Amino acid sequence: MELGLKGKNVVVTGGGNNIGRAIALAFAAEGSNIAIAELDRAAGQRVAGEVAAMDTGASAIVIDADVTDRARTAAMMSDAIARLGSVDVLVNNVGWTVDRLFLDKSREEHVKEVDVNLWGAINCIHAALPHMIERQSGAIVSISSDAGRMGEYREAVYAACKAGVIALSKSLARETGRYGLRLNMVCPGLVAPPQDEVVGSESMWRQGMEEIFTAETLERVRRAYPLRRMGTAAEVANAVVFLASDAASFITGQTLSVSGGYTMM
Ligand SMILES: NC(=O)c1ccc[n+]([C@@H]2O[C@H](COP(=O)([O-])OP(=O)(O)OC[C@H]3O[C@@H](n4cnc5c(N)ncnc54)[C@H](O)[C@@H]3O)[C@@H](O)[C@H]2O)c1
Repeated sequence: MELGLKGKNVVVTGGGNNIGRAIALAFAAEGSNIAIAELDRAAGQRVAGEVAAMDTGASAIVIDADVTDRARTAAMMSDAIARLGSVDVLVNNVGWTVDRLFLDKSREEHVKEVDVNLWGAINCIHAALPHMIERQSGAIVSISSDAGRMGEYREAVYAACKAGVIALSKSLARETGRYGLRLNMVCPGLVAPPQDEVVGSESMWRQGMEEIFTAETLERVRRAYPLRRMGTAAEVANAVVFLASDAASFITGQTLSVSGGYTMM
């Protein structure tokens, strides 16, 4: 299948860790030019180094980003357009949560969940659309979550935001399809960073997530998946690359779960 991603310019937000890293590497395998938009520059640079070591014609730059901030996100997108020449693909990957019951979280934690997960996607799409509309071309893939499709225990506000990302993208797929733009969503299952992977300072896996997802919990999760195993970040990335590619040219407004059959809808 011809994906048509060689030489395409791709912005991956949060591309310095875990799923975002795998997404950046998967586009690099296709020979794309990647801008890793990161709050954690060191993490972004680690992944840019991995891309540079690949022999696919891909390139990677790191762009400072805080997707929660409208002005900084506009500057991030302008920087990406200036340095890459254009942006063909935006992957909204940044996300954040802390796994705890609704009433046990502070207002600050709820605000951060909304800022990062929902405002982050709104700000990035808002910054990319004028450029993509002007070019009459563009693909946006946003990382949502099965929590946003069916709700999830201990993830109430995060789930609300991820549902919001789906509704936002579907609405904008209706508004911008006439300009040749496509917006789709990918919902990963639980993907913990591998033991040997460096976990950056801004990753949600730095704040006790590993203690919450103990071996016993992970075994329970594994049994909840019809495929009876945990997925990998690379498997999520494959779906993102497909939806961003020419091979998905007639697909827009769709939500694809990559979670071993955990949700079927
Ligand atoms: N890992 C999972 O189990 C899982 C499951 C379902 C959905 N998701 C979603 O997948 C996406 C990636 O998850 P992950 O586990 O790789 O996350 P992660 O926390 O490991 O990585 C997030 C990346 O975003 C960067 N970042 C954080 N805040 C930022 C900001 N304000 N501006 C710019 N960059 C920022 C971090 O530095 C980090 O590199 C998220 O949207 C998450 O909600 C993850």
